[in-house]
Amino acid sequence: MTLPDGAEVLADPDAVARAAAEAILAACAKPGRIGLCLSGGSTPRRLYALLAAPGFAERVPWERLHLFFGDERVAPPDGPDSNLRMVREALLDHAPVPPANVHPIPVEGGGREGAARYQAALEAWYGAGVLDPARPLFDLVLLGLGSDGHTASLFPGKPEVAETTRWVVEVPEPGLKPLVPRVSLTVPALSSCRTLLFLVTGEDKRAPLSRLAAGEKLPASLPRAKGETRWLLDQAAPGR
Ligand code: 6PG
Repeated sequence: MTLPDGAEVLADPDAVARAAAEAILAACAKPGRIGLCLSGGSTPRRLYALLAAPGFAERVPWERLHLFFGDERVAPPDGPDSNLRMVREALLDHAPVPPANVHPIPVEGGGREGAARYQAALEAWYGAGVLDPARPLFDLVLLGLGSDGHTASLFPGKPEVAETTRWVVEVPEPGLKPLVPRVSLTVPALSSCRTLLFLVTGEDKRAPLSRLAAGEKLPASLPRAKGETRWLLDQAAPGR
């Protein structure tokens, strides 16, 4: 299978998590605050746990690292559908992350309100309401690949994929389970980063990967970093 530009096939999900953790440390090498946008789903859980574990935890400048979210489900923050809950259980409960450095998507008032509030929070963090290509919003963005080619909560055929102005949108009808409304960062916001990492593991990713390789325009083919876009795959994903 041809692979997306920037694809690296690593041995297994552990190797993918280690490579992603090293990329995060490399993004932390600069002085000053660091903006890391986290992805949801199940794949990055291993990476988050690794960051909080000895070997990595002491190398992360937690006081300078700010954590944002690429998408969130409009669901209770302690329930099974919450991306915040997953990040809390894998990372926040185990690492010395200052609470003020965690920037969850506020979904308690619903998707529309959550999108507006997160847009305002990101503008405050960035210090402007218009993205400057020379000054990315995030240092590093993590993304996953859904079986239908979605990324963050941008689903194929849905209008949110084509958003060119707003950084955050409400997604009233996701294309896949869990069928709860979502709030998602948009292609312009997810692309406003120095480094973009797609984490893709497991054989159920083979179908969307071959569709991307065939040049099909899917949501996951749209975000592109201002610097480098890397696809970290395990061997099972492309079937090697
Ligand atoms: C979400 C995600 C989503 C995810 C993919 C892959 O909140 O659901 O951000 O885009 O990254 O669906 O999910 P898995 O890692 O569970 O395969």
